[in-house]
This record gives sequence, structure tokens and C-alpha cells, in this order.
Amino acid sequence: MSTESIAAPRSNSAQSPKYKRSKGNNSSFEMAAWLFMRLSGVVLIVLIFGHLFVNLMLGDGIHAVDFGFVAGKWASPFWQIWDLVMLWLAILHGTNGVRTIINDYAERSGTRMTLKTVLYVASGVIVVLGTLVIFTFDPCPPGAVIDLPSFCPVP
Ligand code: HEM
Repeated sequence: MSTESIAAPRSNSAQSPKYKRSKGNNSSFEMAAWLFMRLSGVVLIVLIFGHLFVNLMLGDGIHAVDFGFVAGKWASPFWQIWDLVMLWLAILHGTNGVRTIINDYAERSGTRMTLKTVLYVASGVIVVLGTLVIFTFDPCPPGAVIDLPSFCPVP
């Protein structure tokens, strides 16, 4: 096994250490963000493995996953809230993780700002679209040619 370790971010930089965090007192936000990563990580373990177990292991497992399966799950507020919290926590957790990586590795402040703007816009779009899908999903679309859940009215 190699004994080489990974160099600290920007350790080769000419002006190292060059990135100074903003002058205002940011430490309480960074502390909250650090704590959020740990707490959301613990909750995500339950949500993600619960999701995988229910979708892939129970009943017919992966073979049962189709439109009707998703429609049946989202007919229950329990699974709507489960999926909503999983979506929000995963995106906030992932976004904050990538924010940290950008702050650590992007040397120029313009680059950092651009990357973080792209990150926040992408995360915002995913969270809004995902939330809309969970709450506006129609389990019985009129004129559907696929097998609909059993609770849909027979046309
Ligand atoms: C099984 C659930 C998960 C657990 C227990 C978990 C735990 C953690 C923890 C404790 C950290 C902080 C590491 C550090 O500061 O050194 C972290 C970082 C991170 N996580 Fe997660 N995480 C989970 C799921 C996810 C998911 C679903 C995503 C993506 C959407 C994600 C993306 C990231 C990223 C990008 C970082 C930053 C990595 C870095 O700083 O090098 N994680 N995770």
C-alpha cells in the first residue's frame, strides 16, 4: 500500500494559503453546516436504506416497480413525506458537501462564485421539480394505456 498522502487543498499554490473566508463572522454558519452534514447523514441512512428495502426487497422486489407501484406508494401521505424529506435532505446535504469542496479547491473567487451559482441553481431546480412531482402526481391519468392502480375508477 502506498504511504503517500493526499496533499492539502491549494498546498501547491503560489500564495498558499490564499483563500481566506469572508471577513464577516461566518463561523456559526460553518459550524451549523458541519453539524447538519452529520445529522442529515444519520437520517439519510434510515431514509435511503428504508427506501431501498421497501422498493427492492419486500414482496416481488424490483419486479413489482412500475407506474402502479409508484402511484400506490404516493397515494399514502406517509410515503409522500418520506420521499419529500429524503429528496430535501439528500439535495441539501449533497449541495453543502459540494459547496465545501468548491471552497476548498477553487482558487479564484470568480471561479468559486460561478461554480456555486451553478450548484445552487441546479439544486433549486431539482428540489422544486421533485417537490412538485411528489404532490401533483396523478395516479389515475385519463386515457392511460398502462395498468393503473386498483383504486383508480374503471373507465
Ligand atoms: C447514507 C447516507 C449518507 C451519509 C451517512 C453521509 C455522511 C456524510 C458525512 C458525515 C459527510 C461529511 C464528511 C466530512 O466533512 O469530512 C458527508 C459529506 C458529503 N456527502 Fe454525504 N452522506 C450520505 C449521503 C449522501 C448523498 C445521498 C449525497 C449526494 C446527494 C452525499 C454527498 C456528499 C458530499 C458531496 C459530501 C462532501 C464530501 C467532502 O467534503 O469531501 N452524501 N457525507
